[in-house]
Amino acid sequence: MANPHIALLKLTSIFFVIASVPELCGSTKTFTLVNNCKETIWPGITSSDNHSGDGFTLNQGQSTVYTAPTGWSGRIWARTGCNFDNNGNGKCQTGGCGTSMNCTGPGSPPATTADFTLGEPDFYDVSLVDGFNLPIVVKAMNGTGNCSTAGCDGDLRQNCPSELATKDNDRVVACRSACGAFDTDEYCCRGSYGNPATCLPSNYSKIFKQACPAAYSFALDDPTSLITCSKADFVVIFCGSRNQTVCSYHDKQIVCNKSSTAYKAIPQSWWVLMLPLTYMFNLRIMP
Ligand SMILES: *[C@@H]1O[C@H](CO)[C@@H](O)[C@H](O)[C@H]1NC(C)=O
Ligand SMILES: *[C@@H]1O[C@H](CO)[C@@H](O)[C@H](O)[C@H]1NC(C)=O
Ligand SMILES: *[C@@H]1O[C@H](CO)[C@@H](O)[C@H](O)[C@H]1NC(C)=O
Ligand SMILES: *[C@@H]1O[C@H](CO)[C@@H](O)[C@H](O)[C@H]1NC(C)=O
Ligand SMILES: *[C@@H]1O[C@H](CO)[C@@H](O)[C@H](O)[C@H]1NC(C)=O
Ligand SMILES: *[C@@H]1O[C@H](CO)[C@@H](O)[C@H](O)[C@H]1NC(C)=O
Ligand SMILES: *[C@@H]1O[C@H](CO)[C@@H](O)[C@H](O)[C@H]1NC(C)=O
Repeated sequence: MANPHIALLKLTSIFFVIASVPELCGSTKTFTLVNNCKETIWPGITSSDNHSGDGFTLNQGQSTVYTAPTGWSGRIWARTGCNFDNNGNGKCQTGGCGTSMNCTGPGSPPATTADFTLGEPDFYDVSLVDGFNLPIVVKAMNGTGNCSTAGCDGDLRQNCPSELATKDNDRVVACRSACGAFDTDEYCCRGSYGNPATCLPSNYSKIFKQACPAAYSFALDDPTSLITCSKADFVVIFCGSRNQTVCSYHDKQIVCNKSSTAYKAIPQSWWVLMLPLTYMFNLRIMP
């Protein structure tokens, strides 16, 4: 951080924003989105019944709190290499959803996705079925049930087979799924390959599984990648790994999960001290 005084000023004002957040209704869902990447990303969120989708800029090292309305289910992913004008019109190198900042439908492949079906319990997974553009990890905080961590431990862009690579000036910006690249029944689990007994892991999906062991690596992958959990808040980390400590925003508190200890609730007056260790939280409270 360049200037500690400016940083402290920012933190103080964010503190007051957090302190003045109204009580959130019990049926909404809190997602903390963390950008651990070495670049700016533009998360996209699909629309769902009675709710428009969303999209916004998330700078390197920044976190944001997204409150999904009652009844929302859908997909969260990251767009990379975007160029939006002041009206929110533009294009992205990967994951773009048409030409606008706000998304309604899903992004265009290849892109890693975090999928949520919210209810009682919630279901979630990380999926590479539409390919990979950056690592995603989903952690469920303070929930009951299985609630295990979904997603990646590594970056598939670094060992993407060349026939699957999407490049920009020789730099691999994304890795297509074998289905996306070759469009065969075998890789896409269609036709006579349309059931789990015949659609088996391929040499490609095995490479995907290595980077993201707790994610769907192809359409009919082992369903253990789909995880259930009740009453959790979710943290979606872009470019993180499954074993890292994360913090989420819960009941007006920053709650952190350290790998060795149980959840710790940090009183508000203390969490400013924690921030150098964690991230800056910028709040977006959705209607
Ligand atoms: C959408 O709104 C309608 C009318 O208000 C309601 O009946 C329906 O249950 C809502 N759907 C969801 C998923 O919340
Ligand atoms: C995107 O949608 C949100 C509400 O969902 C709205 O506040 C925001 O202004 C929209 N942004 C653009 C660029 O349209
Ligand atoms: C977490 O996992 C990553 C990737 O697997 C590894 O490089 C790192 O050393 C691990 N960190 C800890 C604290 O275990
Ligand atoms: C995967 O298998 C196909 C056909 O069996 C082969 O052509 C290709 O070279 C293999 N790719 C890798 C990365 O092993
Ligand atoms: C939770 O789900 C994961 C993935 O499906 C599985 O590997 C793990 O054994 C489950 N844990 C418990 C405690 O059921
Ligand atoms: C916190 O995260 C670590 C690393 O993912 C995990 O091993 C641990 O079980 C989590 N703690 C709790 C209380 O769930
Ligand atoms: C965790 O959830 C329980 C209810 O399930 C709640 O009483 C408790 O305050 C929560 N803990 C934190 C740290 O948010």
